[in-house]
Amino acid sequence: MWKEHYRIGSELIDSQHQELFGRVASFIRAVQGEESWEERLDEVQSTLEFMKDYVVIHFRDEEALQKEIGYPWLEKHAAIHNAFREEIREFAQRVEREGFDEEKVQEFAAKVMTWLIMHVGKEDQRIGEYIREQGGQQ
Ligand SMILES: [Fe+2]
Ligand SMILES: [Fe+2]
Repeated sequence: MWKEHYRIGSELIDSQHQELFGRVASFIRAVQGEESWEERLDEVQSTLEFMKDYVVIHFRDEEALQKEIGYPWLEKHAAIHNAFREEIREFAQRVEREGFDEEKVQEFAAKVMTWLIMHVGKEDQRIGEYIREQGGQQ
């Protein structure tokens, strides 16, 4: 699901994006797998745990890069990150409270995938454009 043209020109951020895409893909595989829900639940739970932390790290690093290069739309970008981080956190809390319901998790996995493709494919690409305008690699 990762595409080479998603690269923005920062090694750290590009590798984090690849990792995110990889994890979401395995999350979706686990969610849609043939085994019983109980058998898939381990993978679903551990991926969700991982995503919760990794998204925080990635957003922090990406915002630090934006600051470093003087990216002019940092605040707007950070607000988008905050909203998404909040959604993941809320979902994680909800499943903690109510348990892992297959349908809810499927819905959420699809949402995360769509968000990731849209965000990395559009919003994050503007950082890449800015880096290129400023004359190169970070
Ligand atoms: Fe990103
Ligand atoms: Fe971003």
